[in-house]
Amino acid sequence: MRFSQRHLLGLEELDREEILFLLDTAASFREISEREIKKVPALRGKTVVAAFFEPSTRTRISFEIAAKRLSADFVSLSGTVSSAAKGETLLDTARNLAAMQPDVLVLRHPSAGTPHLLAKHLQCAVVNAGDGCHEHPTQALLDLLTIRERKGRFEGLVVAIVGDILHSRVARSNLFALRTLGAEVRLAGPRTLLPSECAPWAFTTPHLEEAVQGADVVMLLRLQRERQVGNFFPSLEEYSRYYCLEEGHLKLAKPDVMVMHPGPLNRGIEISSAVADGPYSVILDQVANGVAVRMAVLYLLGTGGRRVEAVPTKTQMTAIQRSGRRATR
Ligand code: CP
Repeated sequence: MRFSQRHLLGLEELDREEILFLLDTAASFREISEREIKKVPALRGKTVVAAFFEPSTRTRISFEIAAKRLSADFVSLSGTVSSAAKGETLLDTARNLAAMQPDVLVLRHPSAGTPHLLAKHLQCAVVNAGDGCHEHPTQALLDLLTIRERKGRFEGLVVAIVGDILHSRVARSNLFALRTLGAEVRLAGPRTLLPSECAPWAFTTPHLEEAVQGADVVMLLRLQRERQVGNFFPSLEEYSRYYCLEEGHLKLAKPDVMVMHPGPLNRGIEISSAVADGPYSVILDQVANGVAVRMAVLYLLGTGGRRVEAVPTKTQMTAIQRSGRRATR
């Protein structure tokens, strides 16, 4: 199978086979990060531009590491130092970047739909690294990879997503993909932060305990205060009293429950330190899988969806290097 999408804009538009293909490709790339020499020539001669108009630690750095492990050239633009600050429109900025012939543009932007707009106007592949409250597809893919590594399946799993669902692009991407893959999703949070449009897709509840009961996976979300316009709950103290996941809550879940969080964590608000650093937490495994997922996405979009049968062996790497040398002669 090939990955036929030209861009990765969201998981809502991907079918089961495409999502599983992305996960299989990412799984095959994981081993490269465990080698002493963490580099393969798969994207040699390709250029990845990352334009981030919002803060990021995990996503930006893991895209850079992923690109460099595949031998691509990686160039990064931050919104605070770009000419957007001088009044240039996003489309003009993107057209100027595209004029420099990148192969892949990775975009994080506070406005929903901006990667879709750029994808219509640019020749290069566009990857959505988070667009407002809409989607964060590579985050959900790394979450899915982490779940599949531990549970071996998606069908029948109960996944509780707890917190500020209304403003969460991570919740949306996970909801679309988990439903496509056959998992049951429960959404929990204050009623003001539970969008009614999710009701056909997931069981929704204002009670943390109800969502966690019998869950295989509990995924916590931080309050996205940078996106909240208005007062959605009386105070942080009140929020944490009802929605901060403590060790005691985990007794309600399955004995092998996984606790996930996309980061950044707000300790003591949505997750206690005992849970974040405890035996059920897979938060740092998620981060490690972020590199593999982003390698897979850059590889598939940068090479037009070529099938990766397995991580290139030393012999295959030599063959790739030779073909690369022939191509550049
Ligand atoms: N999960 C996530 O997107 O983290 P960053 O904002 O640090 O990239």
